[in-house]
Amino acid sequence: MHVLLGVSSGIAIYKAVDLVSKLRKESFQIDIIMTENASKLISPSVFSAVGNCNVYTNTFNVNNGWIIHTELSQKTDIFVLAPATANTIAKIASGIADNLLTTVALAIPNATPKILVPTMNSRMLENLITQKNIEILKNNGWYVTEPEEGHLACGEIGKGRYPENQKIVETIKFLTAPKILKNKKVLVTAGPTREKIDPIRYISNYSSGKMGYSIAKVAKRLGAYVCLISGPTCLEKPYLIDNFIEVTSSQEMYEIVLSKFLEYDIIIMTAAIADFKVKNTSNKKIKKENFNLILELERTMDVLSELGKNKKENQILIGFAAETENFIEYGKEKLLKKNADYIIANNAKEVMGKDFTKVYVISKTKIEELEGSKEKVAEEIFKIII
Ligand SMILES: Cc1cc2nc3c(=O)[nH]c(=O)nc-3n(C[C@H](O)[C@H](O)[C@H](O)COP(=O)(O)O)c2cc1C
Repeated sequence: MHVLLGVSSGIAIYKAVDLVSKLRKESFQIDIIMTENASKLISPSVFSAVGNCNVYTNTFNVNNGWIIHTELSQKTDIFVLAPATANTIAKIASGIADNLLTTVALAIPNATPKILVPTMNSRMLENLITQKNIEILKNNGWYVTEPEEGHLACGEIGKGRYPENQKIVETIKFLTAPKILKNKKVLVTAGPTREKIDPIRYISNYSSGKMGYSIAKVAKRLGAYVCLISGPTCLEKPYLIDNFIEVTSSQEMYEIVLSKFLEYDIIIMTAAIADFKVKNTSNKKIKKENFNLILELERTMDVLSELGKNKKENQILIGFAAETENFIEYGKEKLLKKNADYIIANNAKEVMGKDFTKVYVISKTKIEELEGSKEKVAEEIFKIII
């Protein structure tokens, strides 16, 4: 996947260096074009070294008939302009092509995805001319990441900040992925639940939510409408997800999933919902002097079983099985017992909380083994079920 990054002379240019680093880590092929003014703020050498890539600044550096703007604009899968100054936005919106960056912007095919990351002082952003220019680019197929509010480099507080680079990377993936889940609605649960003991203590498990969040992100990239229902995690809310609902206890998870699941085509139960909860919770802190504390536990509602009993014929129900041994045997048993279409069994001891996973995707007819980053495995899971 080739990314062509245009860099103009906004003060957030130093954040674009980190964007290049992130793109390189994700194995994107990169070329960079900088405006002359941008190269006054940061040397092109910095971008070239961080991205291990070519940086172009001059339209007229034609070598052996290789014309930079026509070649680069044709070869790229996506054009990202970050940071985009008010000046460069205005030029592109007017069709002006007076430097390499604006010439490339004009030469990019209409069908190539384009991302605009406007960043500037809030008065420059609110200026009606800038607003009109951004609108023109939106109407010409540019995807515009909304500038954020907060402290600006000039010392003022307002709208105009550069967004988190992770959002730009996610948008690149979203705009370039094949839409194999178009018109599908996907419901994903993720993370652990917390079962109250008293107002300050709870029982929980080691689930990080990473697998479920990866599945939700990938489903969105592949074109689905995605609802993510999450127990408490330390993860950032995935950018671009259509509906994000946070719950705490297994009972809340049960109620929200049951109230929603009939609207969805694919339901993926990644959450590690507690199997047991405390029978008699205390509304006051249990004092530690009570050192022989015995908690009586009772079973929680079995969400996957309920879904299996009530699912419609055309719905695909997928459960996860976190086991510590006999993965395939327990997975097969769970598949039948819960009336699921797939059980994805994994080794809870090895993969919980990690970025990598190894799973067995078990259906009535097949068992497939997948291994890799949780996002990669999520992609493979969707390829299997679609
Ligand atoms: C220190 C500094 C920071 C700047 N930051 C921004 C900015 O964040 N956004 C913006 O639109 N212009 C900013 N400007 C103004 C642009 O650099 C100026 O309009 C320039 O002509 C744009 O050239 P370019 O679009 O070819 O890069 C800044 C200028 C300076 C000197």
